[in-house]
Amino acid sequence: MTEQSNMSASKSAAHILKRVLMVPPKHFTVEYAINPWMGGVVDKQKAQQQWDSLKGAIEKAGVQVLTMDQTQGLPDQVFVCNSGLVYDNKVYLSRFRHKERTGEQPLYLEWFKKNGITTIGEGYEEIFEGGGDAVFSDRKTLWAGYGERSSKSVYERIKALGSFDIVLCDMVLPNFYHLDTCFAPVDETTSLYYPPAFSDATNKEILRRLPNSIAVSEAEANAFVCNAITIRDTVISPIGVSQNTKSALSARGKQVEEVDMSEFMKSGGACQCLVLRLL
Ligand code: ARG
Repeated sequence: MTEQSNMSASKSAAHILKRVLMVPPKHFTVEYAINPWMGGVVDKQKAQQQWDSLKGAIEKAGVQVLTMDQTQGLPDQVFVCNSGLVYDNKVYLSRFRHKERTGEQPLYLEWFKKNGITTIGEGYEEIFEGGGDAVFSDRKTLWAGYGERSSKSVYERIKALGSFDIVLCDMVLPNFYHLDTCFAPVDETTSLYYPPAFSDATNKEILRRLPNSIAVSEAEANAFVCNAITIRDTVISPIGVSQNTKSALSARGKQVEEVDMSEFMKSGGACQCLVLRLL
């Protein structure tokens, strides 16, 4: 590896993302409400088309998509990013807050084992919803949300994954119940974030560590614009990114690719929730 490529590889998690896991929406419905967004009837055909478009956008950006089958009776399994947090071929497994989703846990465990990923966290009590609440902005920095869905104390155990800073993020609005509904790392100095969703101390920490962060409007936050996934120079986000945000991203060398996520938003999820990063 040349020094140049070595440098860019260490810059941000977005730059080194090579593989992700997704679950096609074979049995995706909204049958219960465990977050404030859940309701309405899913158009199954539309959901499949939207999922295909997202997968296509990820592949076009240069990332390999692995898939896992959805089990009937587990409608939220499409949101596979909640299965755990992956780092260096190890995964810290989730323990879901709601009984409606705990049936997913053994299926993910089996998938990780089959795919040669070392599992940590099995049998621990602390609630943790994986990539929904925990995301790396680079290999040395983990953004660690807690409140509605993950416990603060789980992050002590997550240290077992490797050596990195853990930035605890205090989330204060029930509508933004997972970190990935209000925060998305973009590059080594930038995130998309929705300031009202965080305590003052967390807002300060976001701007201290990621000084070029872009604050989205209330309308954008409600369109789940922060539920975006950055792959190299492309920010893949649900529809609703404002001109201001697009210009700010463009100044950072990023272009936006919007994907209609209407069916998944009936369950309180969008682009990032449908994707587990396998770093
Ligand atoms: N209906 C799912 C739930 O409430 C949505 C999960 C969205 N995932 C996420 N990473 N934000 O658990």
